[in-house]
Amino acid sequence: MTDLDDIKDGKDFGTEVPAVNEPFFLKGSNALDWGMQNRLGRIFSPKTGRTVMLAFDHGYFQGPTTGIERIDLSIVPLIPHADVLMCTRGALRSCIPAATDKPIALRCSGGQSILTELSNELVAVEIEDAIRLNAAAMAAQVYIGAEYEHKSIANVVKLIDTGTRYGIPTLAVTGVGSDMVRDARYLGLATRLAAEIGAHYIKTYYIDEGFERVTAGCPVPIVIAGGKKLPELDALTMASRAIDQGALGVDMGRNIFQSDSPLAMIQAVSAVVHDDEKPDKAFDLYQTLKDQLA
Ligand code: R5P
Repeated sequence: MTDLDDIKDGKDFGTEVPAVNEPFFLKGSNALDWGMQNRLGRIFSPKTGRTVMLAFDHGYFQGPTTGIERIDLSIVPLIPHADVLMCTRGALRSCIPAATDKPIALRCSGGQSILTELSNELVAVEIEDAIRLNAAAMAAQVYIGAEYEHKSIANVVKLIDTGTRYGIPTLAVTGVGSDMVRDARYLGLATRLAAEIGAHYIKTYYIDEGFERVTAGCPVPIVIAGGKKLPELDALTMASRAIDQGALGVDMGRNIFQSDSPLAMIQAVSAVVHDDEKPDKAFDLYQTLKDQLA
C-alpha cells in the first residue's frame, strides 16, 4: 500500500519563471504531434537542423546497383557516419544490424522495375510493418506529370494518413521521368504539391538555376538526392550549393557508395552539411581520409 505519510508538499514551483515553451527547430514542423517531432528530431540534427541520409534503396526497382551489390560489405561500415539510413525493409532485415541506433527512412513504395513504367508504383509496406521495424519515416515517390501521377500521389497520401495515426513522418520523393525537364518551375511544382498534401519533408534534385526558389516555395524541409555519380569535388560542390540555397540536408546514395572511398566521402559530405565546410576544404578532407584509409 502506498505510504501516504511520506508524500511531501512540493516547494520548488519556480513561480517567477514562465514555463519553457520552445518552438520546434524544424521548418514547417511546429504544429506536429510530439511523436512526429521526436522522429523528425532524430532525422534532422537538433544542433545543426540538417541531415545526412545515406540512401541505398536503389535495388527496389533496379536490382543489384553498382556499389551496393553487397550491402553488408559496402553500407554497414558507413553506418557510423550517416545520420539516417534510407532503405527497403528487405535490405534492413537481411543486412542491417538491428542494434544500430540510426533512424530508418523506410522505402515504402515499389511495384515496378527499370524494365517497366517507373511511375506505376504502389504502397509496398503496411503501416504495421513500418512500426514493427521502428521506422522514423516512410518514403514514396510522387511522379508529377508522369503517366501514373494520380496513383503516386495517392500512395503518398496513404502513407501520410496512416503515418499520422502513429506519429511517423512521410518523406515524399520527387521522381522525375527521363522525358521531363528538371527546372525550378517543375521541381517547385512537385515539391510544393507534396508539401501541400501533407508530406513532412521532401527529397528532390539540386538544379543550378533557381534552386533557392524551390526551397523557399516549399514550406517543409527539402533534402537533395545525389543523383548519378559525379567526381567527388563536383558532388561536394553540389551539396554545398544546395545547403547554401536552403536545403536542410542530403539523401545521397551513388555519390557516396560509388566513390573511390565511400568512408572518406560520407565524412566529407557530413562536413559540408553540418559544418558548412566549403567544397575545396571538404575535398581536402576527402583526400586526407582516403589516403589514411588506403
Ligand atoms: C531513388 O529513387 C532512390 O530513392 C534513391 O535513394 C535516391 O535517388 C537517392 O540516391 P542517389 O543519391 O543515388 O540519387
